[in-house]
Amino acid sequence: MDHEKYSYVEALRWLAQKYDIAIEETATSPEFKAQQLTADSLFIVNQFARDFFSNALLETDEGKAIALSYLKQRGFNEEIIRKFQLGYNPEQRDAFAQAAITAQYNTGLLQKAGLITFRDEQPADNYRGRIIFPIHNQSGKVLGFGARVIKSNDKAPKYINTPENEIYVKSKILYGTYFARHAIDKADECLLVEGYTDVVSLHQAGIENVVASGGTSLTTDQLRLIKKYSTHLTIIYDGDAAGIKAAMRGLDLALEEGLDVRMVLIPDKEDPDSYVNKIGAEAFKAFIQAEKKDFILFQLGIALQEASDDNAKKAVVVNQIAETLSKINKTEEFSKRQDYVRQVSGLLKIEEAGFNELVNKFIREKFTKEESRNIRQTLSPTEPIDEAGTDQLEALLQKDEMQEQAFVRTLIEFGTKSWKENETVADFVFKEMADADLEELIDNRQLVDIILLYRNWYNEGLMPGSKNFLYHDDHAMSSLVIKIMDTQTEISHNWKNHFEGKIATREELYREEVTSTLNYLRLRKIKRLIIENQLELEKTNNPDDQLLYMETHLALKALETKLTSESGMVIYK
Ligand code: UTP
Ligand code: MN
Repeated sequence: MDHEKYSYVEALRWLAQKYDIAIEETATSPEFKAQQLTADSLFIVNQFARDFFSNALLETDEGKAIALSYLKQRGFNEEIIRKFQLGYNPEQRDAFAQAAITAQYNTGLLQKAGLITFRDEQPADNYRGRIIFPIHNQSGKVLGFGARVIKSNDKAPKYINTPENEIYVKSKILYGTYFARHAIDKADECLLVEGYTDVVSLHQAGIENVVASGGTSLTTDQLRLIKKYSTHLTIIYDGDAAGIKAAMRGLDLALEEGLDVRMVLIPDKEDPDSYVNKIGAEAFKAFIQAEKKDFILFQLGIALQEASDDNAKKAVVVNQIAETLSKINKTEEFSKRQDYVRQVSGLLKIEEAGFNELVNKFIREKFTKEESRNIRQTLSPTEPIDEAGTDQLEALLQKDEMQEQAFVRTLIEFGTKSWKENETVADFVFKEMADADLEELIDNRQLVDIILLYRNWYNEGLMPGSKNFLYHDDHAMSSLVIKIMDTQTEISHNWKNHFEGKIATREELYREEVTSTLNYLRLRKIKRLIIENQLELEKTNNPDDQLLYMETHLALKALETKLTSESGMVIYK
């Protein structure tokens, strides 16, 4: 796991494959299996294609004359060409297609892999006359290809890439991870460039901790891939505006993932490939070390330059940078954020406390948005209550009523038993439940009256039990008590399992019954408060109020969790 940065499951699969052991995977749906099968087939056909293209580049006259000479002229040596398994797709319309079909590869699969298309109902190569860059996953299997034109005056796109399929998912791929992973780990730094050729050139120059984004802005998945190896990301971009913009877009995400981002601009309209060829490997390394800038401060510099003396524009910059800093919001990164707050407020010549408050405001707003979305998800019923649903609701309410009755029964039956030294169950219950609590926890007024009557008797020194109620004048009350005392209880499975087969009786478990029946009522009360709080939250637009409701929500949730783990032992039918 450590060596390849695999997850546990990935490591198991790798080992199993290495030692030819079949792993049985449970819980695979037929769709998942079909997908796995396609994925496996795609890897196999890509491997075939890679070998075909490589052979065409290195062993055929056409390849040597047109493609290999081009690569060599650009400065790539044969060793690096072989290492990166570069290739060439001949110009003949179906050179690859014919070879693949002869080797019995299915044309549907070849199309899915992006290797061939059909023109006039005839198979044709998709990358005709192009240099091929195989794109590898972390363990070196080929996910797809980037195919570059050789003649730059072509009207065709410069690169054709594999279309999205079961294994080529652009947002999760970084070119070069397979060749860079150990070097990134060792250097504890990942260099990020834009192009395939940049990666290959830097490798040739001995700079191996480098991967390419493929010219699009970074995704969360790509950032997580980097983070497996290092939290230090250095973005190397061409100095043009598009390059900077693309880098900026990745910044917020990178901060949220907890990466330290630095940036280097390559001057004079060069890119890393051309620049390293121009100044040489050692000078390039020194240049990177010297020019590496903190990305946040770099961004601030550019923005301030643009704003110059315009105060309105400056205010916008202050807001933007505060929002950026708010993305550093993991607890363990608190001091990093405060460092920035200090530096930035210094640079902007604004008061640190005020700026800090602004950053906090953005953090609160983000938190509020996310939390209210989460809460809405937990609260919204999975199914709307329709005609049939009314029965469910009824059943639920009845069950609630049963829980109230269960509590009363526990009190009447076990109230005079010992709770702990010098304290009876009744002592404990009445200590826990003041009058106000009683009415808040129990909806049924009759049941409240029963409890109050019990308490009067108890306080007069009686040892009340069900008999006292049976002979009571209030017939409604006495018949309700009869009904309650007659209720069958069902001990839950959890409880049975807990005792490993020996089913305890209620008499043995009365203390637990007291706790669980009381806790149930409290839990219900908390659930109600959560809903009320949520309604309040949805009504207000004031961020401070929202924060307050959020905090209330979290506190209630914590109570709920605590009670749930304590109770839930006895369930009534
Ligand atoms: P570049 O245009 O900078 O190409 O695009 P490059 O990699 O430096 O190639 P050379 O040096 O001119 O030969 C950067 C990256 O953007 C993606 C590729 O991943 C490329 O490496 N790209 C670019 C495409 O996917 N399609 C294109 O048409 C152009
Ligand atoms: Mn280039």
